[in-house]
Amino acid sequence: MTMLITGIGELTTNDDELGELRDAALVIEGDRVAWVGPAALAPDADHRVDLEGRAVLPGWVDSHTHLVFAGDRTEEFAERMAGKPYTAGGIAITVGATRAASGHELASVVGKHVDEAVRQGTTYLETKTGYGLTTEDELRSAKVAGRYADEVTFLGAHLVPDGWAADEYVDLVCGEMLDAVAPHVRWADVFCETGAFDEDQSRAVLEAARRKGLGLRVHGNQLGPGPGVRLAVELGAASVDHCTYLTPSDVDALAGSGTVATLLPACDLSTRQPLPDARALLDAGATVALASNCNPGSSYTSSMAYCVTTAVLQMRMSVAEAVRAATWGGARALRVEDTVGVLCPGARADLHVLDAPSATHLAYRPGVPLTHAVWRAGVRVR
Ligand code: NIG
Repeated sequence: MTMLITGIGELTTNDDELGELRDAALVIEGDRVAWVGPAALAPDADHRVDLEGRAVLPGWVDSHTHLVFAGDRTEEFAERMAGKPYTAGGIAITVGATRAASGHELASVVGKHVDEAVRQGTTYLETKTGYGLTTEDELRSAKVAGRYADEVTFLGAHLVPDGWAADEYVDLVCGEMLDAVAPHVRWADVFCETGAFDEDQSRAVLEAARRKGLGLRVHGNQLGPGPGVRLAVELGAASVDHCTYLTPSDVDALAGSGTVATLLPACDLSTRQPLPDARALLDAGATVALASNCNPGSSYTSSMAYCVTTAVLQMRMSVAEAVRAATWGGARALRVEDTVGVLCPGARADLHVLDAPSATHLAYRPGVPLTHAVWRAGVRVR
């Protein structure tokens, strides 16, 4: 079965050869893109949809979320807005609620947030464990995550739970917990930050995960300068996420590496941190991704459009840079950029149609819900 989507006013392909097309068309065959080009040259297909001049982008690729949680932290957020600083300690509140929740409750929270994201144009999504912090609870979180997310990351090293000495907990994470969870995940992550895990502990977790064959990601430089970026680059992590406090040598290290700098602007706004210096990263040649960091503590939004709008209005990224970072950049951070975050023949047919003539409207009309239609793997899901 083939479907011709025509009347595309502006088509962002993220493909070096195809570039950005006007008055374009695209053919979907099964779950893949079969053809892309000018509408006037489009081949016949079994079905046809006319988008009447609307803009089409690859679906958002949200490469950083924490959706396996229970409970609510509205009060903590309200206190923060009244001036109380954000600390990593709030994670423990969610850990308590997550451990107490049934598997059914956890699954419904993940499912609800994935649905919410898809309705806003997200077609590929990563999520993490990290609110269980016992072998049993981390394993349960990984299994629930795997039912809903495209990619799952083990974040047993999110916080040292109450009652544990840090080094003993790191031994648990690197041993029994990793053994149990590794078969259910593709990635491992560590929160390398004052108040969470120091450089040596983070290195131990990442090296143990690498020995298990997992890809690496790092939460780094979120609440202050630190070793996270340097460590991520040294160990060849696929991404280092947050990057709010970077030194010039962190920027140089990222620019000279294959590690993606994943920026989480909704989190920085919600925790009253400065926004990351995207311009320094891009100008130095680093690969930048934008992600939502959807979680109940530091960033309770699934809106990638909000992140893109913020990146353009407040971080001096161009619309093209921000859209690319939220699509191709996220795909690169997850090492799936050959088939996701791009619209060219052979790519997965993940399309985000805006109710607007161009992607510029994402920043020009901030806060306006612009998602008109979404195709995920060739199936219209909105
Ligand atoms: O990415 N930085 C660590 N983890 C989350 C915070 C989660 C929370 O506060 O519950 C983050 O911001």
